[in-house]
Amino acid sequence: MGSCVFPVFMGLILLQIHKISECHKIEVTPDSGTIVIFSKKAGHGLDCSVCKDEGPSQTCNSNLRLTEAQPTTVTFNCSQPGDVFNVAINQEIDCSTTDCSIIAVHPDSTRFLEFTRTFTWDLKVQSGKVFQLDFPSPGIRQIKPSESCPDKHTYTITAYQRAGPANIGSFCRNGTISRIQVLYRGRVTLEVPKGTDLNSSDFKVSMGPAATGVVEMDVKLPRGPFSVDFFTPNYATGYYDEQKMKWNFALKPMHNFTVRFQHYAPPECQKKTVMCDYSLGDKTSFTVAPTETQPANKQGDFSLTLANCDAKKVANVPGLSLNFNVEVFRSGTPYLCTVDLRNEEGLSLQIENKNPESYCEMSLNSVMQEKIVVPAGTKADLSFLDCPVQDLQLTATKVIDCPSVSARDVTGPSLTIPTLDPSLPVPLHQFTWLLRLRDQSTVDLMSPKGSYLHQSLPDKQCNERVSLLISETEGSNIGQFCSAAEGTIQKIQIKGNVSITVTPKTIKDLSQEKGPFLKFGISPEITGKYTTGQKFGIIMILFSGVFLNVSCCMLTKPAFIRLQIQ
Ligand SMILES: *[C@@H]1O[C@H](CO)[C@@H](O)[C@H](O)[C@H]1NC(C)=O
Ligand SMILES: *[C@@H]1O[C@H](CO)[C@@H](O)[C@H](O)[C@H]1NC(C)=O
Ligand SMILES: *[C@@H]1O[C@H](CO)[C@@H](O)[C@H](O)[C@H]1NC(C)=O
Ligand SMILES: *[C@@H]1O[C@H](CO)[C@@H](O)[C@H](O)[C@H]1NC(C)=O
Ligand SMILES: *[C@@H]1O[C@H](CO)[C@@H](O)[C@H](O)[C@H]1NC(C)=O
Repeated sequence: MGSCVFPVFMGLILLQIHKISECHKIEVTPDSGTIVIFSKKAGHGLDCSVCKDEGPSQTCNSNLRLTEAQPTTVTFNCSQPGDVFNVAINQEIDCSTTDCSIIAVHPDSTRFLEFTRTFTWDLKVQSGKVFQLDFPSPGIRQIKPSESCPDKHTYTITAYQRAGPANIGSFCRNGTISRIQVLYRGRVTLEVPKGTDLNSSDFKVSMGPAATGVVEMDVKLPRGPFSVDFFTPNYATGYYDEQKMKWNFALKPMHNFTVRFQHYAPPECQKKTVMCDYSLGDKTSFTVAPTETQPANKQGDFSLTLANCDAKKVANVPGLSLNFNVEVFRSGTPYLCTVDLRNEEGLSLQIENKNPESYCEMSLNSVMQEKIVVPAGTKADLSFLDCPVQDLQLTATKVIDCPSVSARDVTGPSLTIPTLDPSLPVPLHQFTWLLRLRDQSTVDLMSPKGSYLHQSLPDKQCNERVSLLISETEGSNIGQFCSAAEGTIQKIQIKGNVSITVTPKTIKDLSQEKGPFLKFGISPEITGKYTTGQKFGIIMILFSGVFLNVSCCMLTKPAFIRLQIQ
């Protein structure tokens, strides 16, 4: 007993399958302008026929061609017709006017799923013109005629020439070819095996310009390193017509290309010779024979026109066959440098590219990185390819683990920016010191010059070349400070870890500003308390000798302010 349970309703072509023993009955309505053909697979001896109901009678055969856009009942007298029959869905597209632009639509995905489906589009334009196929992104790629596509959707393009059909090539989805132009008349075939859902990717058909050859392809090469293969029409058996084939390659900026002829089988020329004409983006052009070296390491877009000779077409004399490869790679040479942080305790570096449009390629120890991080205590080999300095940002962080105090204050060194490797091609954009405490002690910050600190306030801003931001490491900023003659802050005491960040204000590169920016020390835990009982985190010790009516500080957190009268 054969089972006859299958999908019932499918788009414009209606397919119905009824449960009848040892048979399949389906109802098919071809789209208008479409021909549906059931035909027996070659070499299939299986005893099964396709029958069409015509009133009370039935005509049975090994194939059935439906052309009318009306429902027809089709019966197969076996339970698995997909094992015996293929279905072809053919559409003719005449695109003979200049404003013709037709989207060649794939029918919906599950139609005729149980059959191997061959979709064919027969295309025609005015004589002497080309028909143009535009493939939506991500384009298509050419495969060897013997290969098949990983997604089981194989496209074939055929040109109908006076001398007979020429197989332009087999193609898979997802590739670098965005457009193919073919002389005058031809066919696009898409074959999908049975059981595979059709994955729709419609292409556009239009009439192109006057023909210059049998085929022309537009290829958009991605960022390198990348390489891709192409094959001439009738690859392997050979192409005999005295025609041109052209490939136009668009490269990404900052890329070079190399063309290699992987396999070349020459035709037997009766007149003329086979020639390869190259024209480069910079308008230079040259011609080489296919047996000569092809262009290597050239820059920019280019096109290759292969002109066949008038080849002798007799049995056992092959025609022209060429398989060539185009490789693209970056045109620039990387800038190399080494950063050694092993002698600067706690110092780490970060380099970022701030321009996502740029072709900058950075790598750390030969591994490509979006963002370079050189951890403290390491040595790293860096490489920069086509990275404009103004797009890069270098930030450095130095972690200082402060000693613990018993009761006596400890005065640490001044904060200065260490000398970074001068071979590093990036201006220093930000430098941060992270003062880390092991216990509950307090960080004291003072002006390094023996003067006082001033907090940058709206009515009296710091007027320095850099800005100096002091923050608690849990995130809250205490404020921007500078050393100033009229400063009033003798000392800032902060409980817990502190970060101090220097960024340029009027200069471009911090590495020219060594400092010292601040002096720091460690003292025992702050003991002051709010009225609520919560401990103070910040104490400002102000020098009251000069200030009268001078604004001193603005803090986002409650702080304890102590006047030091001298
Ligand atoms: C199907 O029909 C054809 C023609 O009517 C007949 O020759 C064949 O034996 C039938 N096959 C089966 C399996 O019934
Ligand atoms: C398309 O091709 C590229 C490169 O060959 C591959 O990396 C990518 O995964 C492919 N995408 C799909 C959807 O197959
Ligand atoms: C259909 O093709 C697209 C693009 O190639 C892919 O992303 C998608 O996964 C495919 N879907 C199926 C069902 O194969
Ligand atoms: C890329 O091509 C240009 C011009 O032909 C050449 O000057 C440059 O050296 C090439 N780049 C590489 C990486 O070879
Ligand atoms: C300071 O930072 C270190 C390391 O992140 C941490 O272990 C320590 O507890 C912090 N100290 C305070 C007082 O928050």
